[in-house]
Amino acid sequence: MQTVLELAHVCRTYHRGKETVEALKNVSLSVEQGEMVAITGPSGSGKSTLMNILGCLDVPDNGAYYLLGHNVKNLSQAARTRLRRDAVGFVFQNFCLLPGLTARENVELPLIYRGVPPRQRRVLALEALCRVGLSERTEHRPGEMSGGQQQRTALARALVGEPRVLLADEPTGNLDRDSAEVVMELLETLREEGKTVVLITHDDKIAKRAERVVHICDGIVH
Ligand SMILES: Nc1ncnc2c1ncn2[C@@H]1O[C@H](COP(=O)(O)OP(=O)(O)OP(=O)(O)O)[C@@H](O)[C@H]1O
Ligand SMILES: [Mg+2]
Repeated sequence: MQTVLELAHVCRTYHRGKETVEALKNVSLSVEQGEMVAITGPSGSGKSTLMNILGCLDVPDNGAYYLLGHNVKNLSQAARTRLRRDAVGFVFQNFCLLPGLTARENVELPLIYRGVPPRQRRVLALEALCRVGLSERTEHRPGEMSGGQQQRTALARALVGEPRVLLADEPTGNLDRDSAEVVMELLETLREEGKTVVLITHDDKIAKRAERVVHICDGIVH
């Protein structure tokens, strides 16, 4: 089994004026290919900070993070962006959909960055929206969709490029039980396909469906 994600003694401290927040304290964690790991912990415990580092959107102040064997700190900005684009699908806690684009256009974005031609992009985006149960909403803009529909659009955008790693910050946070079930089954299918899935959740029932639950409290992983 290949180790896909590896954090070794990672620290991340935020500075705001004189105030400092130690959001991650000496976190070590490794995740193998094909694993599904749930991260749980109270609000403000460092979960999104951890996800940002796992997704190469942020780098540790101390310690090392290896993604697919690459020490992220040693990569140039361009190489880091490329690694993220090719290897990681990200579902953000606040979706981060572009308001001026339709659901389909939002889902096409990662494919544009990868240089996929327009016709193929469209087909793949519609397929991904269909997988999350949104075939009826492909031409709606985020402001014309419910919170749960936006969340599923964000999931479609994360999985459209077939990333090896899927990082999902509260992917079922805004969903009713049936829609949450659709999303969880989809994540389980992706894992069965050999993808590595890390999801943050407050919901114990959701967390139990992962092979491993990692609990974080005050920036410390237990
Ligand atoms: N950009 C930032 N600047 C300063 N402090 C920050 C910043 N981002 C997060 N923090 C602080 O770091 C800590 C961890 O935040 P984080 O967003 O990782 O929590 P979380 O576990 O995702 O919480 P939630 O469950 O509410 O989403 C919090 O105390 C937060 O206030
Ligand atoms: Mg968060």
